[in-house]
Amino acid sequence: MSNLRSEIEKRRTFAIISHPDAGKTTLTEKFLLYGGAINLAGSVKGKATARHAVSDWMEIEKQRGISVTSSVLQFNYGGYCINILDTPGHQDFSEDTYRTLMAADSAVMVIDASKGVEAQTRKLFKVCVMRHIPIFTFINKMDRDANDTFDLLEDIENELGIETCPINWPIGSGKQFKGVYDRETKKVMTFSDTLKGTKEGTEKEIDIDDQVLEEEIGTEFKEKLLEDIELLDGAGAEFDIEKVSKGELSPVFFGSALTNFGVETFLQHFLKMTYSPLARNSDKGLIDPFTNDFSAFVFKIQANMNKNHRDRIAFMRICSGKFTAGMEVTHVQGGNKKVKLSQPQQMMADERKIVDEAYAGDIIGIFDPGIYSIGDTLTTAKDKFSFEGIPTFAPEHFARCSLIDSMKRKQFVKGVTQIAQEGAIQIFQEYKGGMEEIIVGVVGVLQFDVLKFRLKSEYNVDIRLENLPYEYIRWIGNPKDVNIDTLSGTSDMKKVKDMKERPLLLFVNEWSIGMTLDRNEGLILEEFSKN
Ligand code: G4P
Repeated sequence: MSNLRSEIEKRRTFAIISHPDAGKTTLTEKFLLYGGAINLAGSVKGKATARHAVSDWMEIEKQRGISVTSSVLQFNYGGYCINILDTPGHQDFSEDTYRTLMAADSAVMVIDASKGVEAQTRKLFKVCVMRHIPIFTFINKMDRDANDTFDLLEDIENELGIETCPINWPIGSGKQFKGVYDRETKKVMTFSDTLKGTKEGTEKEIDIDDQVLEEEIGTEFKEKLLEDIELLDGAGAEFDIEKVSKGELSPVFFGSALTNFGVETFLQHFLKMTYSPLARNSDKGLIDPFTNDFSAFVFKIQANMNKNHRDRIAFMRICSGKFTAGMEVTHVQGGNKKVKLSQPQQMMADERKIVDEAYAGDIIGIFDPGIYSIGDTLTTAKDKFSFEGIPTFAPEHFARCSLIDSMKRKQFVKGVTQIAQEGAIQIFQEYKGGMEEIIVGVVGVLQFDVLKFRLKSEYNVDIRLENLPYEYIRWIGNPKDVNIDTLSGTSDMKKVKDMKERPLLLFVNEWSIGMTLDRNEGLILEEFSKN
């Protein structure tokens, strides 16, 4: 097998999604521990960095001169080369978080066993479904009192509309957590919390028919387990790898990231059930990852917050072939210009390092002198193509943005336009208006502060932001069939247009969306815009 093929075949690129505090960071730390990428769990990213306040964050960005938000962590485990994409939570939740999922081949959904499906998981999950990527569920914190297992599964199925198939099954929870039963091997792995921070532990594997099991977990738990298994075998969805690969069935695992219980088993199953990078769609058909031609698309642009260094890093996902530092590629959306990919960077545990080579499945950050846009394709192929565009995701917070000093109109327009091109914010205009009044839409409120800060520091422009009550935005899916002028919605609905002159509607609540659809026969409203 060629080197290129074997390198690509061992790649697994996935994103971890969860609601803040479900245990994403802890689980990531434990993964890295198995990969030997770090010696001690707990150093993936400092809590202080993960939970920073707005002002701290700005400070950190300034001091380092580069983003502290890690984008991807790479480590090796069991012959695989694993890329974990981070989806930032809390306040720094932004459109980037969604876009990151465009670069992943599968997703791991971490759920807190005492909470079930939470808001942020629901949002990110929608993007996974849109992409039909495999979704694996890790139900975490079993060492704390958990919801009933059947209820948790029902919650996922009802809330997210995906079938679930438990690969293992928990026995008790909280102080009474006894371990998990593996449905395939029919063995119980008994819980011990001695594994904290290490990878050698004292987990015991006991066959379900072994007498010892009863001594180990008690008669009551054993009986309950047998009952559960019977119920599950009779009623639960059967494991079907086809359905898993299409994102229609989620394999579910139970464990406790903090005590490092069930993490390695999960990782092993996950690696077996997922594929190396698959072909990606382009305007010239599917692009085979194993071809010798390098190709990649930009999914995130991280602007530097330091005004002394106005450079940017463009993060790209390699989709085919091999990357070598300094290679010359064609920037398709840049008028097919040849560009040299310089200063390639990659994240390794918590450090940035310069990479010499990378393969399909990997993510690299490239110095961007301001030429790239989200969704751009770069390739060495003679027959140029562009990868399918990255959709624009619906912002959920809106503000009217006005200029304090009207003399600075030019810088203002330049600033907001550039920041919007990087994808940090979305800007809209009154449906019939120009740039005199701008409505800014963001996915996470922190982006408002970022906008204000950057306009001031990079463009020397002061702005005033006035919050608007809209929470929902919908692109009109069939603008040619609809007369926007006469379209009638609810009184609190607003008609706007985006940078590409596409008509959109802003709504205060979901009810108004329904009303507007009822009042305008044939109208199609979309939550993501297809570029
Ligand atoms: P996040 O990245 O999804 O936001 O979650 P993170 O891993 O930071 O975990 C959130 C909190 O939950 C942390 O506690 C963490 O220690 C705890 N946690 C994670 N996994 C488990 C688990 O399996 N069992 C239990 N009992 N707790 C878990 P914290 O008090 O907020 O932080 P720390 O002071 O412990 O670091």
